[in-house]
Amino acid sequence: MKNPTVRQKEDPIRDFEYRLGERIKLFRPIEVLTASFGEVISNRRSVRKFQTISLQQLSEVLWYTAKVKSFQMHESGYLLTHRGAPSAGARHPVDVIVFNPEIFKNEDFYYYNPFDHSLNQIVNVDKDIQPFLVHINKIVAIGPGTLLWFVAHSRRNASKYENSESLIWRDAGALINSIQLTSAALNLRSCPIGSLGEPYISEFFADPDVFGSGGLIIG
Ligand SMILES: Cc1cc2nc3c(=O)[nH]c(=O)nc-3n(C[C@H](O)[C@H](O)[C@H](O)COP(=O)(O)O)c2cc1C
Repeated sequence: MKNPTVRQKEDPIRDFEYRLGERIKLFRPIEVLTASFGEVISNRRSVRKFQTISLQQLSEVLWYTAKVKSFQMHESGYLLTHRGAPSAGARHPVDVIVFNPEIFKNEDFYYYNPFDHSLNQIVNVDKDIQPFLVHINKIVAIGPGTLLWFVAHSRRNASKYENSESLIWRDAGALINSIQLTSAALNLRSCPIGSLGEPYISEFFADPDVFGSGGLIIG
């Protein structure tokens, strides 16, 4: 395993473009989180039976963990962002997609836009997500839970770092922890899933630099 190192020159990248349909504007948190940090870190645990959550609760989980709080444009043109979870070089190579047929009234994934705090239906008409769901259900039953899946974009890190691969996995771990702690603070259950979601996520997005990097069920 090699350490990541900063390249001498960072080239601008062509980022993956999702094909998006319906947009659901999410809510801001109604109240500031009041649970003490001691309570939250002591109560965090993985629970494998889930309940339905409201759009407000889903909004809050995404707000605290993935919403962009501030940003700076790097000279390469890359937008560096600060969110609830840390990210190597502030590059956030991991996007979150959400599956919740009860809230969305369909079995599509929705892409979380961390800039405008919205969920956006991923329009990939030729792709069937059932085999992916069967795969996840064999690991942990989703039931009425909400699936948050991580989609890694390796160009975002590879353009700045040599040997960038490990950064994706560490970013995904940071995001798991942020989502589990936030879920604990909101009295929601959560369980990380050990699978990457491969080969399904790669097939779904059909870009060699875009692949699954794990996820969680919450509820
Ligand atoms: C990266 C990662 C992958 C995990 N994958 C699974 C999994 O596939 N199935 C499962 O039931 N739990 C999974 N877990 C949850 C662990 O089993 C759990 O964290 C561990 O048993 C410790 O329990 P705790 O989280 O309640 O402290 C995973 C946790 C992490 C961090």
